[in-house]
Amino acid sequence: MAKARVAVLISGAGSNMAALIDAGLAPGAPYEVVLVLSNRPDAGGLAIAEAKGVTARAIDHRDFSDRESHERALHAALGKADVQLIALAGYMRLLTPWLVDRWEGRMLNIHPSLLPLYPGLDTHARAITAGDAEAGCTVHRVTRGVDEGPILGQARCPILPDDTPESLAERVKVLEHDLYPRCLADAARDLSRP
Ligand code: GAR
Repeated sequence: MAKARVAVLISGAGSNMAALIDAGLAPGAPYEVVLVLSNRPDAGGLAIAEAKGVTARAIDHRDFSDRESHERALHAALGKADVQLIALAGYMRLLTPWLVDRWEGRMLNIHPSLLPLYPGLDTHARAITAGDAEAGCTVHRVTRGVDEGPILGQARCPILPDDTPESLAERVKVLEHDLYPRCLADAARDLSRP
């Protein structure tokens, strides 16, 4: 069966993107990453993607007068590459309904909290301040509401007494790199179901 064609959208370091690319290269994987797009030209993940042989391109949001025209440029690039599924991986720009509706059911996101807890930013600091015993990450389908779509998978870990937001982020990222490829593979298999 042909592999589902995936684009990963990033804004930064791209460690989740790298995990998704690597898992897609494994024999028998149901998807392959064919394109990486960043809204920031300085995103470290762009060079990593290229080093792994994946076409990577920055489409700088500052070159556009509004969100929708930027999204039209993203959408054109996705269409040109014949993309079937989008994985947001540290893509730090809010999407408008214009793009979300066009990719309904075919766009995933990873969020560094146990949703519905802590949508938005600073998730690890908020979990530590709240005195939570555990933290984690969530992969969900993207809908119009920020960090609100149907949950596809979660992974959790303890919050330790001396944790800082940084040490917790590091522990959660290990979980992210395992969870996201598994959820994306499930979504790719779903695509090919009649
Ligand atoms: C990840 O922890 C991801 O969960 C988070 O950004 C980080 C990106 O790291 N995403 C969000 O906060 C989305 N709101 P990476 O660039 O190394 O994959």
